Amino acid sequence: APGPLHDQLQRPLRDLRISVTDRCNFRCSYCMPKEVFNKDYPYLPHSALLSFEEIARLARLFVAQGVRKIRLTGGEPLLRKNIEVLVAQLAALRTPDGAPLDLTLTTNGSLLARKAASLKAAGLNRVTVSLDGLDDTVFRRMNDVDFPVADVLHGIDAAQRAGLGPIKVNMVVKRGTNEQEIVPMARHFRGTGVVLRFIEYMDVGATNGWRMDEVLPSAEVVQRLSAELPLVALDPSAPGETAERWGYADGSGEIGVISSVTQAFCHDCNRARLSTEGQVYLCLFASRGHDLRGLLRGGASDADITQAIAGIWQQRSDRYSQLRGAGMLAPREKRIEMSYIGG
Ligand code: GTP
Ligand code: 5AD
Ligand code: SF4
Ligand code: SF4
Repeated sequence: APGPLHDQLQRPLRDLRISVTDRCNFRCSYCMPKEVFNKDYPYLPHSALLSFEEIARLARLFVAQGVRKIRLTGGEPLLRKNIEVLVAQLAALRTPDGAPLDLTLTTNGSLLARKAASLKAAGLNRVTVSLDGLDDTVFRRMNDVDFPVADVLHGIDAAQRAGLGPIKVNMVVKRGTNEQEIVPMARHFRGTGVVLRFIEYMDVGATNGWRMDEVLPSAEVVQRLSAELPLVALDPSAPGETAERWGYADGSGEIGVISSVTQAFCHDCNRARLSTEGQVYLCLFASRGHDLRGLLRGGASDADITQAIAGIWQQRSDRYSQLRGAGMLAPREKRIEMSYIGG
């Protein structure tokens, strides 16, 4: 069996994020702004998408090379037809030691009330739901398609009832837009078992018009929260984790902060991304991917594909956030959209 893969910065490959569609029914301004993602936007044609069989085959080969966690993303992954069929195929995979994977999915929650039970039955372990505020007016403005917050909250309840936990909720914080929701969100989810994570608004993609003054640094989030709800620092639960963990001092749960802008976590980033059309991206901020679909459709053997994956990972030296933080970035090349590559 091949030894563990490491990249140029000695980082192992552990986490595979698979985007299953580049479409979404929301138009969050930080991700798919309406003006760009309109009816003329060139979404991928069906023939470009990897089939479930192709995805499952690649996933199996990635698992043989060290991947232990698989996350389905999009766009909105629950928009992909019969997604439960793919979930079942991935849930059947085993690590070389015979252990199941950590199999999860990031969703906007709009279809979760309808799908939680079938996803659980197919073998999904847990879900992460994006939710940028509790106030209905603020939430409708964030998703920009007038989607009511109550439906997402029902989705979270359904996921909890189905046993898709521990559930995480991701809140992207934009200064001046939803910062007033930080404390209400924390109060709402405290004591429910849901882990709420606050995410710094990132300069991902090329369409969201990102500005530093709209970033609310995580340190400030923690400060604002601890003024009302005392917090204690917690140890990381896994190496290479995105979130820094904090617990409520009274034991009523935990929160996380994801600080890609003010405190880059590239040094132990163990994540690879597989795009909807079968390109491997080695960084959320990469400008190009490495094609695997051509190999799949050109009749390559498992050994050929395994070798390609190993070569791609071993060449990797990406550490975008760290370089940007250090002011060491060359003028930006064309950058991939989050909705295409998955978060
Ligand atoms: P857990 O395993 O549940 O902790 O999930 P996760 O944090 O790995 O993934 P999730 O999809 O919940 O992502 C949370 C946020 O972190 C999103 O805004 C992602 O875009 C962002 N994120 C995830 N991975 C990376 C990464 O490697 N680099 C950067 N800069 N951001 C990331
Ligand atoms: N900055 C930070 N987080 C983002 N997400 C999407 N776009 C951005 C951005 N520009 C989040 C989504 C979801 C996760 C996968 O990524 O809200 O929770
Ligand atoms: Fe859709 Fe998620 Fe992007 Fe919002 S952040 S537009 S819900 S993919
Ligand atoms: Fe990993 Fe790139 Fe994110 Fe750094 S910026 S943590 S290298 S995906």
